[in-house]
Formats: sequence, structure tokens, C-alpha cells
Amino acid sequence: MSWSPLSDLGVPLPLVAAPMAGGPSSPELVAAMNGAGALGMVAGGYLSPDALAERIAAARATGAPFGVNLFVPGPPLDAASRAAVDRYGSALAADLEALGAELGAVPEHDEDAYEDKLALLLEDPVPLVTTTFALPAADDVSRLRRAGTQVWVTVTTPGEARAAEEAGANALVVQGPRAGGHSGTWDPHRTITEESTATVLRTVALATSLPLIAAGGVDGPEAVRELRAAGATAAAVGTLLLRTVEAGTSAIHRASLADPRFTTTRVTRAFTGRPARALHSRFVEDHDDEAPTAYPVVHHLTKPLRTAAAAQGDAERVHLWAGTGFRAAREVPAATVIEELARDL
Ligand SMILES: Cc1cc2nc3c(=O)[nH]c(=O)nc-3n(C[C@H](O)[C@H](O)[C@H](O)COP(=O)(O)O)c2cc1C
Repeated sequence: MSWSPLSDLGVPLPLVAAPMAGGPSSPELVAAMNGAGALGMVAGGYLSPDALAERIAAARATGAPFGVNLFVPGPPLDAASRAAVDRYGSALAADLEALGAELGAVPEHDEDAYEDKLALLLEDPVPLVTTTFALPAADDVSRLRRAGTQVWVTVTTPGEARAAEEAGANALVVQGPRAGGHSGTWDPHRTITEESTATVLRTVALATSLPLIAAGGVDGPEAVRELRAAGATAAAVGTLLLRTVEAGTSAIHRASLADPRFTTTRVTRAFTGRPARALHSRFVEDHDDEAPTAYPVVHHLTKPLRTAAAAQGDAERVHLWAGTGFRAAREVPAATVIEELARDL
């Protein structure tokens, strides 16, 4: 039998709780996933290294294997993109006025403390590190592996898969366009098309012999079976967990996922400057076509606006990340979601 990354970690089920930074992947959700026999993931994005260390300690206390996800930083913005960000700021004037909010301060460059988080993970190794947004340096991959850590790299195309294999990844997370939240694409200018995760998985499988974990649009056990039939060694699920009891999802995000006024999702750069799938709200409708591709600068620019909108209960202006399967997300214990997905596996 071929090597399996989840069996190697000691995870009983071929199911992964997709990392969801910004709140949803709470320590309680990680513990619930581990307790249910799925792989719990600590979402390291946006956390300070100290906060990440605390999350790691909490995950370790479950006694089960777990992973840590990191955002790999891209290059700093060029002058033209900075000018586009300034223009975008002006285009948000009416929204800011409606909320009584101001534009956020934009840092020169923000690498999400990637190097410090990496140093932490090398000093105090965890069972698994997964990455998204860009290719991690081959040297970093090999240092993590030498520390006894498995490394999975998120890819969205066959080309990314080949490069990640060359960089020494143990396995690949293949994220399809139907996934909720940010696309892991290494080229944020790329148009994110609408094909199924199974289709992306099959094309990636032709480019690599690494084990593949499929993510994007899972809305029930049938979707898991389809992805496994298409060659996935496991399926990762994000949106389905957003309304679970243990998730740290904000109240407005939870309510919006069940609000009949939101009927579709759309990939947009309007909130952060990187393509991300969200509920199709007024803000997305108004600003998607003028938003520059400039992550994380646009994330910082719109942050006070989004925070004010959430505080005022204005769901139309909050980044409501959601995959295409959002209608199937229910307010139940997270273990119930896993039990249902594992049925007939
Ligand atoms: C709220 C939210 C936050 C996310 N944050 C991250 C993250 O921090 N790192 C990451 O690699 N992927 C992130 N993703 C993507 C998920 O890991 C995963 O690819 C996606 O949820 C799978 O598709 P699904 O939502 O249709 O299940 C996020 C997704 C959502 C919905």
C-alpha cells in the first residue's frame, strides 16, 4: 500500500478540519475534531507568534495529532499597486461614511510574522505544518521535515503541484475554486474559475505522485465519496464547520450563513485584495470590479470598515467567507458533522 499522510500521523478518519484563520478555527474546534477522529488544524494566519504558541499548547493537550497552517508571504507591493490601493480607498468613501469608520493604516510590508512562526515550529516541532498562498522555500521544507514534521503545501494548479513536489512537500492540499475563504493560489492576479474540486484534483494528479488532500465545496458525505473516488487520500472541510457549536465564527458570520437573503457566493478581491469566496453581499456587488490585487494591504485598508460593520450588524459590509456548500452548514456539534461525513467511508 502507498504511504498515507493521515495514517502516518495516526489520524483515524480521512477527514481534515480545514484551517480557518480569523476566528473559526478555535481551540475548541481543534479539540472537537481530534476527538471525532478527524485531523484538527491550528490556523496560524494573523496570530502573533506568542498567540500561536498558546494555540499549539492547547492542541497538544488534546493528545491527538494536529497540524499548524501558515500563510507564506508574497513579494512587497510595487508603486503602481500602491497607487491602485489609494484609489480603492477613495472609492470606499460612501461605505465609510455610512458606518462612521475610517480607512485602516496600511503597513509598508506585512509578512504575517512568517519567519518567527517558522522559527517557533522548528524549535518546538508539531506533527504537521501546512502552507498556503505561495511556495515555501525548499530549505524551510527540509528543515521542518528534519525536525520530524510533515509538510503539506496548498496548491490550486498542476504547475503549483509540480513545484511543491520539487520543494520536498510530503503531500498536497488541492484547493478547488468552490472553497470558502481565500484562494490559496500563488498568483493572486489569476482568474479563479468555477470547476469542481474533483476536476482540479484529477488534473493535479496527472502532475504529481504525492498524496492529495482535496478541499473545496464539500457539502455532505456524497462529496467526500466523490473526491476519494477522484483520487483524494482525504477531504478537508471548512464551510461545513463554520456554524458548529465549537467554531469561533463571529455571530454575524454565523447568522448570515443561514440568512435567506444571501443566496450565492462569489470570488472577490473587494475585502482583502486576494481572491476569496464570500457570500454575495452589497459590498461585493459594489466594489469587486474596482478592488486591486494587493493582499494584505487591502486587508488592512478595509479592516476598520469591516469591524465597524460587524459591530453595527451590517452584514452587507462584512467579509462573510463561505464555500459553495454553505447552505449545508448547520448549528450542531462539530463531531456530528464529522460522523455524517464519515458515514459509508
Ligand atoms: C472562514 C475561512 C477561513 C479560512 N482561512 C484559511 C486559512 O487560514 N488558511 C488556509 O490555508 N485556508 C483557509 N481557508 C480555506 C480552507 O482551509 C479550505 O480550503 C476551504 O474552507 C475548503 O472549502 P469549503 O469551505 O468549501 O469546505 C479558509 C476558509 C474559510 C471559509
